[in-house]
Amino acid sequence: MPRQFFVGGNFKMNGTIKSIKDIISGLNDAKLDGETEVVISPPSLYLLLARENLKKGIEVAAQNVFDKPNGAFTGEISVEQLKDSGITWTILGHSERRTLLAETDDFVASKTKVATDGGLSVILCCGETLEQREAGTTTDVVTSQLKAVADKISDWSKIVIAYEPIWAIGTGKVASTEQAQEVHAAIRKWLSDAVSSDAAEATRILYGGSVSEKNCVELAKQPDIDGFLVGGASLKPAFYDIINAKA
Ligand code: G3P
Repeated sequence: MPRQFFVGGNFKMNGTIKSIKDIISGLNDAKLDGETEVVISPPSLYLLLARENLKKGIEVAAQNVFDKPNGAFTGEISVEQLKDSGITWTILGHSERRTLLAETDDFVASKTKVATDGGLSVILCCGETLEQREAGTTTDVVTSQLKAVADKISDWSKIVIAYEPIWAIGTGKVASTEQAQEVHAAIRKWLSDAVSSDAAEATRILYGGSVSEKNCVELAKQPDIDGFLVGGASLKPAFYDIINAKA
């Protein structure tokens, strides 16, 4: 079974009620490739607004979720609260949270387990710094981030992996098609060895990092690139072209 192309829009901490409503009505009206699975991820304050205004067929993702069911956890949101609001996805392990908020591989893995056990789908991010790439440790870094998850879960059917080299995020410096394909293939091989050949075959591996309407078509031609996690360009009409990269 071919893997369905997937494009996620990570708005990060951007947007207002007005701008997010505008993005949503743009998406509702745009001519989008029906073969592409589309998920947008606004800041938590706007998740419900997005869900209530988006047309059917486009899903909404939180940018994070906590690994406890409820209780005294100021500032956090639970899996059940997301599901109660019609939010079916969450991003986890984004490098901005790993670096700025000191999230460990183990914490990301714990949240991934609680989210998938609770029925949410997860966009699980991984990626190396420039120093790690230059030291030749990209594959080790990425696979050890993923191994922390594999140590806690065996069912990868609700997970989409997003490979986001940190040096390419928001920098305008996109990984070359060869660089991206090489890491995606290494992740797929790791899945096959560490999880199962079925998981390797079925799991979507997205590329994220300065994806634009200009570079998406070439990247999308690579055999192991199954879609994108888009930051800056997801706030603009360029997002439609990225969704349609395979059309
Ligand atoms: O999660 C998406 C991301 O980190 C890439 O951001 O702005 O480089 O597309 P950007």
